[in-house]
Amino acid sequence: MELHVADHPLIRHKVTVLRDKRTPSPTFRLLVDELVTLLAYEATRHVRVDAHEVETPLTTATGTKIADPAPIIVPILRAGLGMLDGMQRLIPSAEVGFLGLKRDEETLEAVTYANRLPDDLTGRQVFLIDPMLATGGSLIMAIDYVLQRGATDVTCVCLLAAPEGIQNVQDAVGDRADVTVVVAQVDEKLNEQGYIVPGLGDAGDRLYGVIGD
Ligand code: PRP
Ligand code: URA
Repeated sequence: MELHVADHPLIRHKVTVLRDKRTPSPTFRLLVDELVTLLAYEATRHVRVDAHEVETPLTTATGTKIADPAPIIVPILRAGLGMLDGMQRLIPSAEVGFLGLKRDEETLEAVTYANRLPDDLTGRQVFLIDPMLATGGSLIMAIDYVLQRGATDVTCVCLLAAPEGIQNVQDAVGDRADVTVVVAQVDEKLNEQGYIVPGLGDAGDRLYGVIGD
């Protein structure tokens, strides 16, 4: 598994305002949307493309076009839904699937209540989106669903992640597939209730490295 922690002052600024309990809901939603757009730029760095010719007013130009089959974006409901617009803005041709997962707050295990994924994801690049990666249970379950359907190339886009959850995802994925986690910020740790404790630790750097190194 590969981890990219977005090391960018604009992203750090927006995450800080996002965390502020005084931030009104409309601003919160706008910030989520902006952050996803910035993260999506990095997350789509290896999106598959084909050569494509277009007629310009002067001559024929060869460029690139997102390859078929188009990627699929899968928001993990409910919170992941708030990230969908931002991802679709960058890859409007992507298909969309849905996974409804709910973390049981007693056991901290993810429970599935909805699954609208295509049966066959062979050859499809998958973008899983969920703002929080806490214990990693929800993301691991989502990754398992798409790998079972034949996906081999999975990128997870999250806003905040706990180091323990990242490690759990890495352990669960092993060498089964190419999985990348793109995250705005890695926080300090999980608390006893499995919630992410804010803190600008160096866990991201220590674990795997930082974009822009
Ligand atoms: C949150 C979050 C993740 C999950 C993270 O969703 O959006 O899906 O918890 O926790 P984990 O890494 O320990 O699994 P939640 O289950 O609260 O559902 P919701 O989005 O419907 O509120
Ligand atoms: N859900 C949240 O909103 N935060 C966490 O840290 C874990 C689950």
